[in-house]
Amino acid sequence: MPEVELRTERLVLRPWRDEDLEPFAALNADPRVMEFFPSRYTREESEQGMARIREHFAAHGFGLWAVGVRRGAPFIGMIGLAVPGFEASFTPCVEVGWRLLVEHWGHGYASEGARAALGFGFRQLGLPEIVSFTTAGNLRSRRVMERLGMSRTPDDDFLHPSLPDGHPLRPHVLYRLACAAFEAIS
Ligand SMILES: CC(C)(COP(=O)(O)OP(=O)(O)OC[C@H]1O[C@@H](n2cnc3c(N)ncnc32)[C@H](O)[C@@H]1OP(=O)(O)O)[C@@H](O)C(=O)NCCC(=O)NCCS
Repeated sequence: MPEVELRTERLVLRPWRDEDLEPFAALNADPRVMEFFPSRYTREESEQGMARIREHFAAHGFGLWAVGVRRGAPFIGMIGLAVPGFEASFTPCVEVGWRLLVEHWGHGYASEGARAALGFGFRQLGLPEIVSFTTAGNLRSRRVMERLGMSRTPDDDFLHPSLPDGHPLRPHVLYRLACAAFEAIS
């Protein structure tokens, strides 16, 4: 099955290339980007992370795409859909997620790319609902979720099972978007 590529007005969400590893490792090593993650990635963790993303595409036919700006930077980060690897009250599910190089924040790229990923999830994959979650303090990411029309109810708040008791990033918020709600605002 050929790998999917999505195009928006300004972006291309495309399959990963070996040469993405260098900027992907820089992305994951930047403390501003990783502020709301338990730790930055070592070079080896970025290699493993990229391999896992490619395996996810092979297993599911979708994943976190590498993102480039059309007529611009070939790699600005990743945006896409993923099946979370942990168990919680809302799993199994498909989440939408994003991580961009700092110099590409503030242009609306995460929202624009995520809208295309949601459209693919609802229209091509036929998903009834897509979720997104983040640690409670990650307000920039929560703003993207809100811009996409996703909604949160505090009843869905959860403690991330991969983080230890008492870890400051453990409290998470969950946002949901139903297919019908997406179509109503698209
Ligand atoms: C989360 C993250 C992707 C958000 O990036 P972002 O650029 O703020 O998000 P958007 O693409 O939605 O852009 C919106 C911003 O662009 C501005 N903007 C400029 N031009 C725009 C345009 N043409 N269209 C829309 N917004 C535009 C908006 O005003 C808004 O700025 P503001 O938040 O200062 O008001 C980014 O901060 C990031 O990569 N963070 C680190 C990784 C991370 O935490 N990922 C999530 C883990 S759950």
